Amino acid sequence: MQKYTLYNGDCLEYMKKIKTSSVDLIVTDPPYNLGKFMENRDTNLGKMRDNFFGIAGWDDLDFKEWKQSMNKFFHQAARVLKDGGSMIVFMSIIKVETLISVAEKNGFYYKTTGIWHKLNPMPRNMNLHFVNSTEAWVYFTYKARTGTFNNDGKVLHDFVETSVTPNSERKYGKHPTQKPEQLMEHFVSILSDESNVVLDPFMGSGSVGVAAVRLNRKFIGIELEEKYYSIANSRIAEVDTCEA
Ligand SMILES: C[S@@+](CC[C@H](N)C(=O)[O-])C[C@H]1O[C@@H](n2cnc3c(N)ncnc32)[C@H](O)[C@@H]1O
Repeated sequence: MQKYTLYNGDCLEYMKKIKTSSVDLIVTDPPYNLGKFMENRDTNLGKMRDNFFGIAGWDDLDFKEWKQSMNKFFHQAARVLKDGGSMIVFMSIIKVETLISVAEKNGFYYKTTGIWHKLNPMPRNMNLHFVNSTEAWVYFTYKARTGTFNNDGKVLHDFVETSVTPNSERKYGKHPTQKPEQLMEHFVSILSDESNVVLDPFMGSGSVGVAAVRLNRKFIGIELEEKYYSIANSRIAEVDTCEA
């Protein structure tokens, strides 16, 4: 297999191209389906770009349709993962219970719900409410109760803190919900080994791919929007050249 393979299209279609039981780790950040929720709250969507992604894919679906799409995604994820493989799925806290039930239905073993804390979030409306500074991530293993866990003897908390994505990681263009490379490196290094295959079916601007290639893993990424696919392509090609 090549060092990395990127597809521009719908992950439910492109995941079918991936061989059964060939992936060691999935780290992904699918649409949180907050479109309707935000609409009903009359929120100014344009100003919520850090945690809202409403222009493509599944963010504007009705909850039932979103759940069905997530079910199809988990079905494919179960097919492509090796037994004992791991998966991290970022999700809004209010959707975590749904996510776990869909995952368990598809044979995943639920391990942990953890928090990513952003050290320097945009202090929007700071005099009106608590500033949004967290997102949840949910950790599963497939057909096993434990998977690769490279903690090097350290106690690893289910609370991860980093700064928000720095501008230096946006030089090929911006993605509205781009995750920092440091955060993705954390999960890739702990939950996989060198030469393992890492998949991100909702790749966005490719932060998981950058982390995987930098850490000498193989990477498969899928992104629906051409614009973000192209940013991911440039970012991952750059890190691949640096590592070569
Ligand atoms: C939350 S963003 C991921 C951001 C990414 N973690 C990053 O660091 O840039 C979700 C991405 O999934 C993409 N997407 C939505 N539906 C999709 C589908 N059915 N197949 C593939 N990508 C999809 C969106 O275009 C969006 O870029």
